[in-house]
Amino acid sequence: MKVYGVVFVLGALAGTCASPENSFYPNLSSPDVITAAHYDAVPRGAAHETRTSASDGAYAYCSMPHPSVDMYKEPEPVRNGSVHAELKAVLYMQRHQKRTAYHIFPHGEATLYNCDDGRPYLYYSPSDKKLPQPMHVYAQTYADATNPLTQSLANSSCQFPQMTIGGYLDGVQHGAELRALYQDKYNIIPGWPSPRTVWFRSSTAALTQDSAGGVLRGLWPHWRGAIPLHQQSEFIDTHAPPCDRRDALLDAAKSTATWKKHLRVSSSLRSKLESMLLTNTSEWRVDWDHYNDNFQARLCNGYALPCALHKDKDCVTTEEANQVFTAGDWEYNYYWVDRDNVTEAIQLTSGLLIQDMVTHLTEIANGKSALRYLHMFMHDGDIAPLAGSLGIETLRWPGMASNIAIELWESKSSGMHARVLYSGNTIRSKHGNMDWIPLDKFLHGWSRYIPHDFVAQCATPL
Ligand SMILES: *[C@@H]1O[C@H](CO)[C@@H](O)[C@H](O)[C@H]1NC(C)=O
Ligand SMILES: *[C@@H]1O[C@H](CO)[C@@H](O)[C@H](O)[C@H]1NC(C)=O
Ligand SMILES: *[C@@H]1O[C@H](CO)[C@@H](O)[C@H](O)[C@H]1NC(C)=O
Ligand SMILES: *[C@@H]1O[C@H](CO)[C@@H](O)[C@H](O)[C@H]1NC(C)=O
Ligand SMILES: *[C@@H]1O[C@H](CO)[C@@H](O)[C@H](O)[C@H]1NC(C)=O
Repeated sequence: MKVYGVVFVLGALAGTCASPENSFYPNLSSPDVITAAHYDAVPRGAAHETRTSASDGAYAYCSMPHPSVDMYKEPEPVRNGSVHAELKAVLYMQRHQKRTAYHIFPHGEATLYNCDDGRPYLYYSPSDKKLPQPMHVYAQTYADATNPLTQSLANSSCQFPQMTIGGYLDGVQHGAELRALYQDKYNIIPGWPSPRTVWFRSSTAALTQDSAGGVLRGLWPHWRGAIPLHQQSEFIDTHAPPCDRRDALLDAAKSTATWKKHLRVSSSLRSKLESMLLTNTSEWRVDWDHYNDNFQARLCNGYALPCALHKDKDCVTTEEANQVFTAGDWEYNYYWVDRDNVTEAIQLTSGLLIQDMVTHLTEIANGKSALRYLHMFMHDGDIAPLAGSLGIETLRWPGMASNIAIELWESKSSGMHARVLYSGNTIRSKHGNMDWIPLDKFLHGWSRYIPHDFVAQCATPL
């Protein structure tokens, strides 16, 4: 019966009633979606980048769609000629590209992860070119047979969760497609990375820097110089500031009847996976995050779903994986769209980052800043609350390289407008029409997510 249900719904999705972008907006309101398995949530990918043509715009976890010439549409009033407007600036925020897992099984992995096809470089270099320049050293991860812990972990040449070759290649293609659109067509991105008009930022994680290296190569294939990637000190980084009240809100969200129902309806699946994968530890039991992370990394990078450690034939099935991924989608939607106190949770998670972006957009609009293209390399934990703050109607787990583009359009007759794309399509928002919204109105609405006094609010017990 279940198999019939999946086939039936997938058939309907492929039919005329569903546009590719509908795949971003399944109905995730009830925890029961996990067992109903009413849409295809299984990621697909390969070791090397597999996209050979532009995306059709559908949700694709391993390599999310992004603005590109093939799928890009101008805002409706510009397209139909009722307004003459020019694209003036773009603020772009993306999750890093695909990678290995953060979480491997507590009692080890049978899968041999191989990262020998990439070199994570890290070295210090003096700004003064007259001083000696460093050796270009890179990390070569290896497992030593005499290390008694090797077997219990994984005989792997990866430093989890390092970027994979497929992630890097996807980044280069991502950048090249942004260049074709925002440089060749709209002249927003300049021919070289001029610090007057372009600006880059990343989190302090190696992953986001690794991603930037690929994407920026796609933007400027011939530039041989270095490019600064702005970062804030990690103790006070506005993309992930410490906040006790935010943590208390998360604990509260995981104590509600809805959350308990979510764990209850998925408990038989959990028991099955625990006995097969020996994942019966507290970290793996609190939510569906670790299973999603582990399975996503496999499927996106050319590995199979896992089997029992010592029994090759006892493996996770596609149907079980679909439930795991639906559970992951449900959790993201719950955290950033549906839970009680979601506005405050977003304020205390991403409010300071939103403040940074509102400041940039305001300064560009009033001529204080000459920047035309800003690109930030961040995480799913940033994209998700930001999508929530932009009023997204439903939020699936923001896949690899998922992205938000805020475009500023300038029109002599009707003033400055914003347009917000989520992974290439205009975001479907509870907060209004994000295809064409007066900039003042947009900034005013978004600013509701900036805390008045972050430090005091974080110190206030729930
Ligand atoms: C979503 O699903 C819930 C529960 O299954 C249902 O009550 C609700 O009407 C659905 N919403 C939409 C927009 O279809
Ligand atoms: C163009 O699109 C806008 C926004 O959808 C609409 O309000 C307007 O009437 C349209 N104009 C024409 C000429 O179709
Ligand atoms: C790890 O894998 C490599 C390559 O397959 C193999 O040569 C080596 O013997 C393995 N080491 C251990 C400790 O299993
Ligand atoms: C929501 O906020 C109220 C008031 O601050 C608090 O009493 C309640 O426990 C919170 N509930 C959740 C689920 O966050
Ligand atoms: C997992 O461990 C808990 C507590 O240690 C135990 O109650 C439960 O039965 C175990 N489940 C499985 C599937 O081993």
